[in-house]
Amino acid sequence: MAYNFDEVIDRTNTNSVKYDFPGRYGLPGYNYVPLWIADMDFRSPPCVHDALTERVDHGIFGYSDSDDTYFCAVSGWMEKRHGFTIEPEWLVKTQGVIPAISAILCALTKQNDSILIQYPSYNMFNRIIEKTKRKIVKNALVLEDGKYKIDFADFEKQIVRNGVKLFILCNPYNPVGRVWTAEELTQMGDICLKHGVVVIADEIHQDFVFAPHKHLVFAKLKPAFENITITCTAPTKTFNISGLPISNIFIVDEDLREKITEELSMRGQFGAGVLEILACQAAYANGDKWLDSLLQYLAENIAYSRNFFHGKLPEIDFIEPEGTYLLWLDCRKLGLWAKELEAYIADEAQVLLNRAPGAEGFLRINIACPRATLEKAYLRLAQAIKKL
Ligand SMILES: Cc1ncc(COP(=O)(O)O)c(C=O)c1O
Repeated sequence: MAYNFDEVIDRTNTNSVKYDFPGRYGLPGYNYVPLWIADMDFRSPPCVHDALTERVDHGIFGYSDSDDTYFCAVSGWMEKRHGFTIEPEWLVKTQGVIPAISAILCALTKQNDSILIQYPSYNMFNRIIEKTKRKIVKNALVLEDGKYKIDFADFEKQIVRNGVKLFILCNPYNPVGRVWTAEELTQMGDICLKHGVVVIADEIHQDFVFAPHKHLVFAKLKPAFENITITCTAPTKTFNISGLPISNIFIVDEDLREKITEELSMRGQFGAGVLEILACQAAYANGDKWLDSLLQYLAENIAYSRNFFHGKLPEIDFIEPEGTYLLWLDCRKLGLWAKELEAYIADEAQVLLNRAPGAEGFLRINIACPRATLEKAYLRLAQAIKKL
């Protein structure tokens, strides 16, 4: 392998949220294995490093914007990796997907309007819906034979009963690791079309999909979906550059686009910073090989995890991931719930994991780290669980 994903790099004292600001159950500087927030313990691709170094050496960081080179890099990536042909006018750059979704909620809905999300959910969806004073409407996914499925009857019922205006689709799905199929996406899309629901398709994890699964861009599944969809993408997860917040939002419908760009202008948000632009451009233009090697490494980490949980820790059910680098563990047999479970693992195993809204007894584990880090965490987990 040309890239060394086995290298353990010390990330402490680098302003890393994962390591230096460990949240509720952690203390800074303590000996935790942090496998919680969704960034990776790998260096970004060399092409990103080179582009940034060149600009840092130049030493001037004045107001900046992106040009055609940027659009070619972004559109080239979407075309070759996802078969998604984009037009220049569709692209709206923002400083992160979550800031974009927050602005979209405000642009397209009013206070107390109903926003549909699926459960268990990514906690930031809950947070921004609550902070913008909209109402969360839940469509609970159903876990059947180790796989999460959509209850379409409930999906439609929730929309009708609550007069839902907007649905946040997460694909690939954080936290449960599903990659929705064409049939599932079409069925959700048809229901949204029928009831005039706008879809925010959060596809930030689009580049992390494991064979035989395939990421499908929701907006292009059916011509009619294009005009009700706002597609949110970013290079930040894919190339581990979340500290350089930039996202590419694609909005086909002119009216939706105008409302959203107005909202962003009202917030004083225009474009992105120079380092963000250059990192995104370099990654999308030249990051293919690096990503392919990374995906292979992550697939091996998943295989390692599967063997570990099946063989050494059958008290925890390993849910097979189809996409993302986040594993979703069914820990209900342990008899500890939500906060209690997360806190026990933090205190006793000294491993930091996440829970998610609407999922008592489940934990999320970020496996985007060197194998040695996973080994260390799993050893600690096994010891702590045996003590229960
Ligand atoms: C589904 C999903 N959307 C958005 C984000 C965050 O995006 P950003 O950092 O661009 O705000 C995450 C991060 O984990 C995520 O999992």
